[in-house]
Amino acid sequence: MISVLGLGFVGLTTGLGFAKKGFRTYGFDISEERLSSLKNFNVPFHEPYLPEVLKETHNKTFFLDTPFEEAIRNSEAVFLCVGTPEKEDGSADLKYLLAAIEQVLDVDTPKFQVLVTKSTVPPSTVSNEVIPFVKEKLKSSKQRKVGFASNPEFLREGFCWEDFINPDRIVIGVEDDHSREVLDKIYKPFNAPVHYVNYNTSEFIKYLSNTMLSTMISYSNEMSMVAGAIGSIDIKKSFRILHEDKRWFGSPASMKSYVYPGCGYGGYCLPKDTSALVKISEKNGFTPSMLVANINTNRVIKSHLVDNLDGKIGSDEPIGILGLSFKPDSDDVRLTPAKDIIELLIKKGFTNIYAYDPISNNEFKKHYPALSLKYLDSLEDIVDKCDHLFLLTAWSEFREKKDLLKSKSLYDYRYAL
Ligand SMILES: NC(=O)c1ccc[n+]([C@@H]2O[C@H](COP(=O)([O-])OP(=O)(O)OC[C@H]3O[C@@H](n4cnc5c(N)ncnc54)[C@H](O)[C@@H]3O)[C@@H](O)[C@H]2O)c1
Repeated sequence: MISVLGLGFVGLTTGLGFAKKGFRTYGFDISEERLSSLKNFNVPFHEPYLPEVLKETHNKTFFLDTPFEEAIRNSEAVFLCVGTPEKEDGSADLKYLLAAIEQVLDVDTPKFQVLVTKSTVPPSTVSNEVIPFVKEKLKSSKQRKVGFASNPEFLREGFCWEDFINPDRIVIGVEDDHSREVLDKIYKPFNAPVHYVNYNTSEFIKYLSNTMLSTMISYSNEMSMVAGAIGSIDIKKSFRILHEDKRWFGSPASMKSYVYPGCGYGGYCLPKDTSALVKISEKNGFTPSMLVANINTNRVIKSHLVDNLDGKIGSDEPIGILGLSFKPDSDDVRLTPAKDIIELLIKKGFTNIYAYDPISNNEFKKHYPALSLKYLDSLEDIVDKCDHLFLLTAWSEFREKKDLLKSKSLYDYRYAL
């Protein structure tokens, strides 16, 4: 048995979705108006399929009239789907979430119950807000046994039903076996990959998704302002043609490979072209702040990675650089992140730096003769010499021979393995 608190886009879809899958599901909302409209089979917002599923499941597997206490007492999981609006200072307002949790905890039951946060909440909310809040509330309750889960929702308004019933992925942040078993049972009937992670990761994945989307939108808008400032540019056509790039469609190298953290972009094109566009736009009176921030992040990421090593490696210990070119399958070393990172390592006082690239050793030596490092001819050699390895180019050789790297302290700055 499942209870769902908050019957907006997310909660109503979730409740009906579980009901459709055959779970006995109880829906609650503090808005009487919303509830009475639902009881009359009127979905108070436009969302395809929900009215039909409501008619199909109401009073069969989906219940809106059950007393709150009875439903909570019998539920193995309570899905919290209330709003998390923005506060004046920009942070997320958790008052509806905590109030809903309080109502649930006011019902006493000996049954183990999982409080599942489905509302979108900033990473660390379950760990730092929800759990301490619940612990405090239950200080004097001997019998209440509560587990926790974070289960962000990725549905899109207008497609709520399809997205919920046929999800492309299900993310569950859970840190105890009992709660995991409950969630496992609930999501078993869904034919989708279920990813179990910890609470923070689960919450983060939702923001990773939304902020990437918002960044792409702002990026597009900023680019339209750059184009407008320069003038005589057909913006609509430009974007339409951008969309024809085969990388959007996944082949041969998909856009995904650009949406991955690493040690920054380099090479002949991206750095200089990003800078040049900033300059011409500024000359025309518009400062593209996202592009300026983009260049800054590309610089900061390298020192950030090197600063993170403080105290972890002795300055005379051998360090091995795996990969020198700016990307795999190329020997182009112009503006390669490896150059900046090696420079930063030398500046930090590391004196014993080795490098191996499947094809770019000579190019690198030619371009950067002043850098003091020793070049090796094979992966085996560098693994032999160095206990600390920095993977800076995602060559397939490193992936294929990753067993060689197992016993080493490996800093995979391309998330390649
Ligand atoms: N709308 C989306 O597309 C979408 C997608 C994914 C995630 N989310 C997230 O899901 C959450 C809910 O979003 P929504 O669009 O469904 O919000 P919504 O405003 O449509 O619905 C929230 C509902 O919760 C009810 N509520 C508030 N306190 C309650 C309580 N104590 N008990 C019972 N009901 C209570 C409200 O009356 C309201 O009907 C938010 O955190 C949102 O960020 C939204």
